[in-house]
Amino acid sequence: MTSTLTFDTAAVTRALTNAATAASHAPSIHNAQPWRWHAHDDHLDLSLDESPALAVVGLDRRLAILSCGAALHHALVSLAADGMHATVTRLPRQARSGHLATIRVDARIPVEPAASRHLQTIAWRQTDRHALSGTPVDADTLRSMAAAAESQQTLLHVLRPRQVLDLASASDHTRGDESDDQAELREWTGGTRTLGTGNADTVIPRGASPTTVPGRPFGRPGDMAIADSRDRTAVFAVLYGPGDGNLDWLRAGEALSAVWLKATELGISVLPFSSTTEVTATRETIRHLLSGLGHPYLFLRFAVLGPDTAGPPNTPRRPTGQTTEHR
Ligand SMILES: Cc1cc2nc3c(=O)[nH]c(=O)nc-3n(C[C@H](O)[C@H](O)[C@H](O)COP(=O)(O)O)c2cc1C
Repeated sequence: MTSTLTFDTAAVTRALTNAATAASHAPSIHNAQPWRWHAHDDHLDLSLDESPALAVVGLDRRLAILSCGAALHHALVSLAADGMHATVTRLPRQARSGHLATIRVDARIPVEPAASRHLQTIAWRQTDRHALSGTPVDADTLRSMAAAAESQQTLLHVLRPRQVLDLASASDHTRGDESDDQAELREWTGGTRTLGTGNADTVIPRGASPTTVPGRPFGRPGDMAIADSRDRTAVFAVLYGPGDGNLDWLRAGEALSAVWLKATELGISVLPFSSTTEVTATRETIRHLLSGLGHPYLFLRFAVLGPDTAGPPNTPRRPTGQTTEHR
């Protein structure tokens, strides 16, 4: 039951600061963390970071908004774990200014065990491009992840074998397009990265892994050992929905976070495949291949983690001072 009694403003401000910090752990395209938080006494504003530093390296706007949605969901998980009920207004000004959401704390609530668990999961969720165990993902687990997506008004469809082949062929096609764009990719990958964005060598495979669907080329080999067997037991799925507007992509990001936290808690690794939905022509091809299911937002590979899979090192983040401003 919620309490609307006046509550400690300092506690609310603290919880909002915690929420912006938790959000910094969200997954994002190229680890760009394209979000800005403005923290006020009783609310947080989330905007797309449209600073030249990010714009110059050609971030796809849809995938940047999707990444902000994941950060939004992380922030809400943190508030729930701090016992705060929040109301979210999405696209308060039709996102004309890049303003994507306002989170307003309006009541205290009891802390549910699931909320505390999700907050812990945020700290150890990661993108795992490692080898996979040979254990298949069971149907109940997939149903739980579909329910997590639906809780965020986005749908999750598990691809049929024929659709996996279609995805593989579309991804292969996209790789050709991307080879013209290696310079842009290199902005986001490899080397020792000090700014807290992009992917370091330690999380980039040494070469092309024998995966069913070709992964995103990183423009350079990394240090991570590649799988020596094909990902035959992996499951491919797509987050999709009826619309292609900013709100749909924001909600898709919230769904990505909900699905990924649930997957992590169930011992399932998640790897996004975004190059296919980044290119308009391929996105349209894929939309037709999905036989009118809706607009595809992001493809995901699910696989059971092996018992002794040590995850890769955590990918660093921008200092929160760069992404959060206190008003
Ligand atoms: C919208 C989106 C698209 C992504 N696309 C890819 C991809 O195509 N290939 C890949 O290896 N990782 C992809 N990622 C994973 C990011 O690279 C990863 O989240 C980021 O580097 C931070 O690392 P972490 O998830 O381990 O914290 C994507 C993530 C998001 C949110």
